[in-house]
Amino acid sequence: MTVMIDGKALADEIVQHVAQEVSAFKLKHKVTPGLAVVLVGDDPASAVYVRNKIKRTEQAGLQSIAHYLPAETTQQQLDELIDQLNRDDSVHGILVQLPLPAHLSESRVIEAISPEKDVDGFHPENVGKLVTGQQVLVPCTPLGCMIMLKRHIDDLSGKHAVVIGRSNIVGKPIANLLLQSHCTVTIVHSRTQHIEEICRAADIVVAAVGQPLMVKEDWLKPNAVVIDVGINQISLNGKRKLVGDVDYHDVFSKVSAITPVPGGVGPMTIACLMQNTLTAAQHQLN
Ligand code: GUN
Repeated sequence: MTVMIDGKALADEIVQHVAQEVSAFKLKHKVTPGLAVVLVGDDPASAVYVRNKIKRTEQAGLQSIAHYLPAETTQQQLDELIDQLNRDDSVHGILVQLPLPAHLSESRVIEAISPEKDVDGFHPENVGKLVTGQQVLVPCTPLGCMIMLKRHIDDLSGKHAVVIGRSNIVGKPIANLLLQSHCTVTIVHSRTQHIEEICRAADIVVAAVGQPLMVKEDWLKPNAVVIDVGINQISLNGKRKLVGDVDYHDVFSKVSAITPVPGGVGPMTIACLMQNTLTAAQHQLN
């Protein structure tokens, strides 16, 4: 029987747990952990993600600090805002929603955020710590993927994991986390030859490539565990629909467990952001 990995239910559980810890934190420190979210411009998908993040921040009992900047914001204005947030003691986590408008440098923004407030785990110092296995704020989507995998596989040691996609946000960090859990890891990407054959050898497939419905039934080994990070909007019979990078209905009966889209990785990413904000505040005050 295939298990549908319910990211929404697991995310609710994590946010409830964070909320309890936040209450204890407030009693101990007389401070509410604060998360600053910065959105530049009016990309509709980013606006939805930011709205969901703010809603969850409030549910977790955290202080939400939102900054909505116009698309024509200059690099200097954005740098100044980040500098101000870095120095603000009521802000424990900073997230600048990506992608940014083309005239702004994402790497400059990521490097400007104080590593201890970098709840995305994107700062080069934090990336270095992740790769070398040190304690660090782990990027939210990969962290959410690992929590879901560990719920379904008792021991990841020796499992062959194939990661489809090599982005800095998902592919590379999740490959490192899988390696830390003693998986044998293969990363495949747009230039890889025989991707399907490589996937067919996998016990675990993490699809993070942004190609709607790419992974089909004949790409997978029987009883593989599939984590679908893709969130793609497609038009089906004249209606808009969200689908993953995996053809869920095609693969469902072949795999042992799979995350749905929506309701899989997405809610877990936001729950992990709440956890990271609390962790950042704990480190800053202890
Ligand atoms: N855009 C899409 N995913 C993310 C994420 O995890 N963090 C940020 N900052 N922007 C994103």
